[in-house]
Amino acid sequence: MAVAVASEKPIVARKPSFPFTEVPRHWLGGTALASHLANGLNLLFPLGERFFVRSVRKHMDVVKADPALEARVRGFIAQEVRHGMEHERFFEIMEAQGLEIRKFLAWYEHAAFDVLVDVGTRLHPDLDLAVTVALEHFTAMFAERALEKDVLSQIAHPVMRDLLLWHACEEIEHKSVAFDVLARVNPSYPLRMGGLAMATFGLVFFWMAGAGALLRQEEGLSVRGLLRELVATRERNALMNGELARSFKDYLRRDFHPSQHPNEPLAEAWLRENGARLGLANTQAA
Ligand SMILES: [Fe+2]
Ligand SMILES: [Fe+2]
Repeated sequence: MAVAVASEKPIVARKPSFPFTEVPRHWLGGTALASHLANGLNLLFPLGERFFVRSVRKHMDVVKADPALEARVRGFIAQEVRHGMEHERFFEIMEAQGLEIRKFLAWYEHAAFDVLVDVGTRLHPDLDLAVTVALEHFTAMFAERALEKDVLSQIAHPVMRDLLLWHACEEIEHKSVAFDVLARVNPSYPLRMGGLAMATFGLVFFWMAGAGALLRQEEGLSVRGLLRELVATRERNALMNGELARSFKDYLRRDFHPSQHPNEPLAEAWLRENGARLGLANTQAA
């Protein structure tokens, strides 16, 4: 496993408050399919991010041996907690729009964390951290695509664009933290690959389940209409492309480290341009 590379910049948690009441039900591309695919992912974030925090916090004894790493871990935790809170605030808007989400959330919490993670950590006690590291790589790669292609500016409601791009910037800022903790706790390559397998399965399975639970609530959405929307969404979607597959393959290299993807300038530029408008300029240390 690659040697940890400490980030020079301190990781800080910003505290935006987005005006979600302005967001319409079909806020992405004006279609139910695109909006609920994104909402399905949104439903996974708060519980997922709490799981990331738990899996890293378990190793604070190792982390505390290195004050620089400890500071980065505290910044990572503060950012993830804030992401979860802000995504959860949007849940209330979804409910106000008539979407039933609590049944899905209760099932997801039980199936993903009480069952799947429990089985995983029985197989290997550090598998939860390896899953977190893989999911942090996925979020950083999605973040890079979103900032680079700026497709959200064209198809997303501006409030949701700001939510997702603020989140994307902070994912890039803390992209190496969980990886560096795993490198110290257990640098095993098979363990990291086991985490990747479980993370990939879990992400696809629960994401599609969440999107499906929302799409089923769209009255009058026929299979034919869904397919038509799928084609239109795919044509517009620059976030899912070959570059994402290449990022996935990079993770398979034994000498992989998240710092090998120099995407920090994308986050810095977006925060410079939008920080003051969103009240992010006055950042607070974690
Ligand atoms: Fe996050
Ligand atoms: Fe993260």
